[in-house]
Amino acid sequence: MRTKLLVTTILFGAMAAVLPARAAGTLNLVCAADVKWCELMEREFEASHDIDVNMVRMSSGEAYARLRAEARNPKTDVWWAGTGDPHLQAADDNLTLEYKSPMLDQLQPWAQRQAEVSGYKTVGVYSGALGWGYNTQILEKKGLAAPACWKDLTDAKYKGEIQIANPNSSGTAYTALATLVQLMGEDEAFAYQKALNANVTQYTKSGSAPVKAAARGETGIGIVFMHDAVAMTKQGFPVKTVAPCEGTGFEVGSMSIVKGAKNLENAKVFYDWALSPEVQSKAAEADSFQLPSNKGATVPPEAPRLDDIKLIDYDFAKYGNAETRKALLERWDREIGAAAN
Ligand code: G6P
Repeated sequence: MRTKLLVTTILFGAMAAVLPARAAGTLNLVCAADVKWCELMEREFEASHDIDVNMVRMSSGEAYARLRAEARNPKTDVWWAGTGDPHLQAADDNLTLEYKSPMLDQLQPWAQRQAEVSGYKTVGVYSGALGWGYNTQILEKKGLAAPACWKDLTDAKYKGEIQIANPNSSGTAYTALATLVQLMGEDEAFAYQKALNANVTQYTKSGSAPVKAAARGETGIGIVFMHDAVAMTKQGFPVKTVAPCEGTGFEVGSMSIVKGAKNLENAKVFYDWALSPEVQSKAAEADSFQLPSNKGATVPPEAPRLDDIKLIDYDFAKYGNAETRKALLERWDREIGAAAN
């Protein structure tokens, strides 16, 4: 018996010597930013912590749906990034956990407000305004002037030249829907979207896909967050960015810890780390040009500044409210989605 124990001990000792050091644990991360930024976050976190990250990238509306589906047996620990409205809806639905990070007082007022309105179940990690990007070569070739205002986009001359995402899957497109409702009133906003639908060729799953398609020359105009259009220009594509003349909405990209997270301590470590100025300053390395929420983080020179853009007073509490979001999406499915099929 003794010998057996001794052999086993020696065997395990030898195995430990040849196996790579084991991580202290794991973290299951849902990431709703651009995939390049998601991969950078995964890499950087693993490099500085003894924690293995299982990361999956999805759009904001999909991330919310996943948390809902997993509510009885959560497989996700942290949901990082993506627009704030579905994070607020998750908070409303009691799917996420209250957490007051020691980093909170380092954050911009808009990021702290996001935490306050959710009862500290979510927090702002970045911000950026909605607009569109257009392919200068395509519009020039077709003799089309660049659209400057929301109302221009419904002009028949842009038929077949516009893409926007589907607001069920995409937080970007939901921000557009809520922005139009706040700019015009609900009925008018739906009449507008019906007119826009005549020019739209595709409702994509992901929010930034439309401007990526415009960059590749597959469409003329992609309605997206302005920083996503800027990323295309930065990558060398003939894309210009527009801030709509009537005014526009913006996002407070957010982060939440899942209620019932199996790796709660690791989730908190990631949360505090992701709010630090050093980590937020790395976004530009992944061509992500949002405005960081930590006051000490470097603002990329390419980032569209909110002060330079005519912004609406976006009502996050109202449009992140579970009932409002559900009702608007149902109406979109009935009146726009159904007509698009
Ligand atoms: C892009 C933007 C982010 C935004 C996200 C939302 O990645 O850069 O600022 O939060 O889209 O993605 P979604 O696919 O939900 O519209």
